[in-house]
Formats: sequence, structure tokens, C-alpha cells
Amino acid sequence: MWSIMRTRARTMTRFVLTQSFLPVSPNLCNISPLLHCSPSSVSLGLTGSSSSCEVSGRPFFSRSFSGLQTMAEDSVTYLSQRAAAEIDETLMGPLGFSVVQLMELAGLSVAASIAETYKPSEYKRVLAICGPGNNGGDGLVAARHLYHFGYKPFVCYPKRTPKALYTGLVTQLESLSIPFLSVEDLPSDLSKDFDVLVDAMFGFSFHGAPRPPFENLIQRLVSLHRDDTAGRKSPVIVSVDIPSGWHVEEGDVSGEGIKPDMLVSLTAPKLCAKHFCGPHHFLGGRFVPPSIAEKYKFQLPPYPGTSMCVRIGKVPQIDLSAMRETYVSPEFLEEQVEANPFEQFNKWFKDAVAAGLREPNAMALSTAGKNGKLSSRMVLLKGVDEDGFVWYTNYGSRKAHELSENPWASLLFYWDGLNRQVRVEGFAEKVSDHESEQYFLSRPRGSQIGAVVSDQSSVVPGRQALHQQYKELEEKFSSMSVIPKPKHWGGYRLKPELFEFWQGQPSRLHDRLQYTPQEIDGKQVWKIVRLAP
Ligand SMILES: Cc1cc2nc3c(=O)[nH]c(=O)nc-3n(C[C@H](O)[C@H](O)[C@H](O)COP(=O)(O)O)c2cc1C
Repeated sequence: MWSIMRTRARTMTRFVLTQSFLPVSPNLCNISPLLHCSPSSVSLGLTGSSSSCEVSGRPFFSRSFSGLQTMAEDSVTYLSQRAAAEIDETLMGPLGFSVVQLMELAGLSVAASIAETYKPSEYKRVLAICGPGNNGGDGLVAARHLYHFGYKPFVCYPKRTPKALYTGLVTQLESLSIPFLSVEDLPSDLSKDFDVLVDAMFGFSFHGAPRPPFENLIQRLVSLHRDDTAGRKSPVIVSVDIPSGWHVEEGDVSGEGIKPDMLVSLTAPKLCAKHFCGPHHFLGGRFVPPSIAEKYKFQLPPYPGTSMCVRIGKVPQIDLSAMRETYVSPEFLEEQVEANPFEQFNKWFKDAVAAGLREPNAMALSTAGKNGKLSSRMVLLKGVDEDGFVWYTNYGSRKAHELSENPWASLLFYWDGLNRQVRVEGFAEKVSDHESEQYFLSRPRGSQIGAVVSDQSSVVPGRQALHQQYKELEEKFSSMSVIPKPKHWGGYRLKPELFEFWQGQPSRLHDRLQYTPQEIDGKQVWKIVRLAP
């Protein structure tokens, strides 16, 4: 992308001025600059739908499955070459972006998409094959970010562009000691030396036949795919915006082109993306302002949180048996831990907060009534000290009934990203009414009304009934500055009798340190033992 040369840019500006940006009707698909069409073939289902595309059997790991929002591909906007060029022109013209900025964000999106899907623990060695234009620049930027994400990038950049933007990118990569490989330096069999191949040769403005050495490089990527079908392990291919050699609108016309495993569409997918059959289609380039999105009637999935990429379409068929993480953590040794498990918990909790994990105070609470049947649910830790772990809830809820019959309960924290879990077991009792009141008063007004409304765990006639009740109470309390805590709402404190601190390690040789109370010479101490993983 960003492949319009300065001289062309002037021509394009004139062109844009004479074009109408009015939305076009879908039945004008073949002449309109942007289309909202159904992809002809792609249907990659979670449940193994009758897809005409083959899904690679390689294990994959993607936050998309759990965290990122996805959008059905049949409702996504696809851009023609002309519309893509117009958008670039608008971004770099009236909207004030520079090519440097857009390239940086595009390259970051590519690196983020790779990191979402191919973990460096398994796909460490990345070769970025970069063309002479801006698509190649995106590849150079991606290589730099991948280095910082923990990958080992290599760059093949056979036709260097002598502009400051590109020479600067090369210098940045060289300063990171990222090797530049000439075409001749490349091993004859790319599959032995690389886990990921980034195809950043040509972008959406390319047309015509690829010239040497790119024609040969494209063929090498194509032949890798052929080897793959013969059952040999191949690196995955990630194409930046357009699979190089494909027609920007018609796709792989000859059927003999690159078949990428991942396509990272920048700004919006180009028409050729309708023919992409790989398992991972991502959108990147998180800089499109609403004016462009509205003008071009963009229908694209929203970027989640602070992410620089978002999956388009469904996640591919999931092989649960192949989903496993390799944990790499520092050693967790008996000599390092705090003698007091509350202090150890505080230490790890601070780490979880510092790591920016979402809701590190979320914990699974398991209870069992007198019939011994267990139930678990998440609650939020709202206080912890040597007296125990505190959470708040409804005293009429299922958990409360079970605790009234059997106060023994367990808590479980899981801090993904730190490879840590903490188990806490003990007995729970209600906190004082005063303590519950203090906390209730600190809650946002909406949560206070919600607590009054909800007869937690009881059957309700429908959503509407809850909202109606909420509205009525909002009116009732409108003149009151303080909403009184309802009697049925309050806290529990679990007094621990066992802690276990778990840290994931390679080869499933995880660390598990368990604390239980012991009396030694009339003094209460915590005994620490290591458990087999
Ligand atoms: C992350 C998370 C935090 C939650 N925190 C609380 C909480 O602090 N208190 C609470 O009563 N319910 C909380 N819930 C809702 C509970 O999981 C559960 O649905 C509710 O308490 C009813 O459970 P029960 O019917 O087993 O009593 C939370 C849910 C999630 C997903």
C-alpha cells in the first residue's frame, strides 16, 4: 500500500477531484470503486462446514478466538484498486498523513497480526521479502516490530529504494543486527531455515508481470505450497495487503500464484481478498478516520481495545487437541518465595497489575452445598489481608445458599500472560454489615441500583423486566443522594487454609509450591512443599 509515487499522486489528485464519492448501489458492482459483495468461496467454520477451501492442519494460536471480535466475510467491504488509491490520496492529501506514518502503522499491523497467530516460540525465524515500493516498506517496518516482539527476522530486499524513508528503515534494521540476505544468499529450500515468510513484494498499485528477481521469488513461494501438499512441513506465508503476483481485483487469475496462509489487508480488503482461501485473514491499518469510513460505507470489524489488527471472518476450524501453549517463565524456587503466602500473593498480584492484565482480581469461586455437588463462577476480589480474601455478592444467590450449608470454598486466579495460577482454599463467612455498607457506598450508582434490582440466581421473565425495574428504582432514588445497601447484598471473606502458587514451565515441568499452616513450638507457620506438576 501507499504505493502511489509522487508524480502519480498529482495525477491522482486531479482524478479524485473529478470523481464522485457518492455511495454506489450494489448492483453496480462491476463498475463501482467499492463493493459489498459475498466472497465467492470462503467459508471457514468452527464446526467444519462444507468449505471449498482447505484449512491448514498446523496448530495455530490466536487471541481472536477468545478476545477479538470477528465479522462475517460476506458483509465486509472490498475495495477496487481505484478506491484504494483514492483513499490513500485523501489520507496523504487533505487528511494530512505522511507516507512515513502510514507505513509505520501498516507494518505494525502486519507484525501484530503475525504475533496474534504465530507465536515466536514456534514460528521464530521470519524472512521478510520486500519489494522496491511501499509494500516493501511495510515489510521492513514489520520486520523491526517482529524483532521487538521476540522473533528472529531476516530481510531479503533485493531492489533497494534510495529514498531517505527506506534507507532509514534499513539503518534501523541493521542497528538491530537483522541480517539482510541477497537472493543468492537465500537457501535453496526456504522451509529449512524459516518458519514465516512475509510476502511484502507488491501492493495494490502493482500491475503487469513481476520482473526478476521477484518473479523467481514468487515462484519459490509457490513451490513451497506445492511441497506442502506433498506432506512436507513448510513455513507459513503471510501476504501484506495483496498476495504478490495476484491481480488486485481478480485475484490469482492463473490459479498458479502464491497461496498465503495469512493475508493482512490494510485499510480495507481489496477485491482480490474475496479469493483468499487461507485460514487467517486480518485487517490492519488502524488510522481510517470516520470521514473515509462513512464516505466509502465501510463495513469492517471494529478493532478491539488497543489492538492494531482484527480478524476478518470466522476463525478456522479448531483442533482442540492441537491447542497447547509452551510456557516459558523464570524459575520459581523455594528459596525465592515469601514465607508468608499473603505476601507472596501480593507480590504476584502486583506483577499481574504491572503486566496490564485485564481484571487481575477476577477469581473463580467454587462452592458445594450439603449435597456435595460443586458449582463455580467468577467473582471479583475486593480486598485481601491476613484475615482473608473478600468479595461481594447477593446473600440470596446460589453461591450464598451453598456457603450457608457448607462454608468450605476455593478460589482460583489465572493470570494468562504470566503463566501463573493461584489456588486458595478455606472457609468463608460473611463480612460485617458495616464493612459491606462501606464498600456498597463506594460503588457507582448504577451498580448500586443493579444490586437492589437483582434477585441474583432466581428465574426472571425476561431482560425487559429487569430493565423496567431498574428504571423504576432510578426514579424512586432520584431525589436521594445515597442509595441504602439492600439487606440481601454483602461480602464474604474466605480465610485460607491452603495456598498453591503455580508457574508454567517448558515440557510441562511446572512449578507448584503449596503452603499449609502448621504449628511448630506452639507457633503458627506456613509449611511450603513442592508438588509434582
Ligand atoms: C469477571 C467476572 C466477575 C464477576 N464478579 C462478580 C462478583 O464480584 N460478585 C457477584 O455476585 N457476581 C460476579 N460475577 C457474576 C458471577 O459469575 C455469577 O454469575 C453470579 O454471581 C451468580 O452466581 P451464582 O448463581 O452461582 O450465585 C462475575 C462474573 C464475571 C465473569
